[in-house]
Formats: sequence, structure tokens, C-alpha cells
Amino acid sequence: MSGATASAAVLDNRSKTDTQMKITRRAFLASGTAMAAVAAGQLGKTNRGFAQTGVVNLYSARHYDTDTALYESFTSKTGIKVNLVEAKAEELIERIKSEGANSPADLIVTVDAGNLWRAKDAGILQPVSSQVLTRAIPANLRDPDNQWFGLSKRARVIMYNKDKVKPSDLSTYEALTDSKWKGRILVRSSNSVYNQSLLGSIIVANGDEKAEEWARGLVANFARPPEGNDTAQIKAVAAGQGDIAIANTYYIARLLKSSKADEKAISQKIGVFFPNQSNRGAHINICGGGVVKTAKNKDAAIKFLEHLVSREAQEMFASRNNEYPIINGVTFDPVVASFTQQAKFDNANAEVFGRNNPAALKMMNRAGWK
Ligand SMILES: [Fe+2]
Repeated sequence: MSGATASAAVLDNRSKTDTQMKITRRAFLASGTAMAAVAAGQLGKTNRGFAQTGVVNLYSARHYDTDTALYESFTSKTGIKVNLVEAKAEELIERIKSEGANSPADLIVTVDAGNLWRAKDAGILQPVSSQVLTRAIPANLRDPDNQWFGLSKRARVIMYNKDKVKPSDLSTYEALTDSKWKGRILVRSSNSVYNQSLLGSIIVANGDEKAEEWARGLVANFARPPEGNDTAQIKAVAAGQGDIAIANTYYIARLLKSSKADEKAISQKIGVFFPNQSNRGAHINICGGGVVKTAKNKDAAIKFLEHLVSREAQEMFASRNNEYPIINGVTFDPVVASFTQQAKFDNANAEVFGRNNPAALKMMNRAGWK
């Protein structure tokens, strides 16, 4: 993150000892009481009459530097200051649970339907009634009880070494279990919620038995035991450690746009293939958010979510973080558009494949997917 401003200050300093906690701005305040004082001070300073004054306390598990601009655009539109705490989704969920009624969190934003389902399952969210959200967001990408809402889309697809693999060698996720791929497939570990949701979507499409068979077949074709994130898989493909990777599209977009010569060179070796075009389409996941059950600034939290599905914010998701917009009518980033073209996306219900995450993880464990 860059450009620390009053519009997005990190509130927390208890977590400094936690190496998982990514604190990117000056540690500011630790308690809900102290935070209330900040809100009161802000109210006094920003009462200009043209915008709602106040504050919203955001717990975010998104790990993208570009999000600052999203928060700043919200503040400049509404006058509402965004206070930010960043950590991994499971840490934020645990923290909100342990903070209980005193939690300063007004809303949680995280990647992956699996994490959103976990937040709802933990009982930390509340239903929200917003026509802006329900009209903008397709029904399959928001919680049926309106406790969380998809805000952007990402595709988890096949990336291949252009020197070793032809697009005509590829077809579906299911076909990756073919023995011709033995020793050639790279994918990160089963701990990755991205993989749990992918298998969750395969459970939706093919049922439990076939999904578990798929996991076994895929593991049998691994080039190495899983290690590293999606970028590491793409780099390993370029380095010849395997021929194809399963990865989210924004990772390759980031490499294609990189100003570093080595990353640019890696990206040029990689082709992007959207599987299952003849049936359900490529697996789509979401980033999303929900209002915390004990939110003190509920109205501001709803406004924040509504802002994130505005055209202005959706263009930022698309152009700055290479995600797919969740609303209609926003153009893709040109680099993303160049490899996506007219790809068909799976319209599986995110609530269902999110809910399938625990079952998917058990299957992967049984299949020996490390
Ligand atoms: Fe990611």
C-alpha cells in the first residue's frame, strides 16, 4: 500500500507481534473506545453539509496495494473516513468473534466465497437490505440471506507453457486427470481457499464421488508437491518444472504488466486457457464483503459496499487489480481482455461452492493433495 492518508489509517497495534498481520500504516489505536474518539473527532472536522460525516471500520483480507484508491474514492464521495485493519481472512473472523459485542469492525471484506461462507457460518455477519446491492450483483454471487455480497470476480484457469503445450491439448478441468499430464501439473496446496472453492465447484458440477476421483487424478499428475502461491506456479511453468499450472487470472495479468524484465519474460512464455467452454464454463470466484453483526456504523458500512459496486469502483477493481467487474457494462482491463476474450464463466452459486469448502478440503487430504 502507499499514500497513507487520513482516509485509511490502520487502527491496530495489538497485532504487531503477529507476523501474519500485515500492518502497512502507522499503528494508531487499539481499543474500541479510542476508535470512537477518532470517529467523534472526524465528525467535527468533516461536517460540511454536502456529505454524510463519519467513519467506517473495515477489516480487510484483500492483499492488494491498489485498494487504497478504492477507500479514498469512497471518502471523497461521502466524507466517510475508512479505518483499515488488514490480516488473513481466518484471523479477521477469529478476531471479530473474540472481540464480540465490543468489536470495532463494521464490515469485513475478503477474497473467496469460501471465506465469506466461513464468516457467515461463524455468525459474525448480519443481513443487509440494499436494492443497490441486490440489483447490481448477480444472485449467484451474493449470499441468499444477504449477509455477504460479491464485489469483483476472478477466474481460476489453466496456464500453460507455450513451447510445450498447444491450446488444442487442453479442454476441461476434468481432462487434467488424463495420464498424458503425468508429472506436468503445478498447483498450490490444498490449504489454499482458491483450490477448495475450485474443487467445491467441481462437486457442484459432478457430485462428491467424481470430484474426489478428480482430486486423486490431479494429484497423480503433479509435477512436484505443492509449494508457493499462484505466481510461483506460473514461474515454475516458465522455468520448465511443469507444463501447466492452475492459477487465478490476475496473477498472470500482473506479470504481463510488470516493469521487471524477468517477470515480463516469464509472462511471454505463458498461455492462458479458459477450460470447460463447451459446458459450464471456467470457474469463477469472488471477492466480497458483509456488514458485521455488531457494526456501530451500519449505514456507513452499507454505503461502503454500495460504493464498491459503483461504476467508479468497479473500474478500479478491473484496471488496478486486474479483476473482472461484477456489474454489467464495465469494460475489462485491456491486458485481461486480451487473454479472456469471450470466455464463458461457470455460473455456479458461490454460496454453494463456498459451503463445499470443508468437504473439498477433506477430499484433497484423502487424495494426498498436500
Ligand atoms: Fe490472490
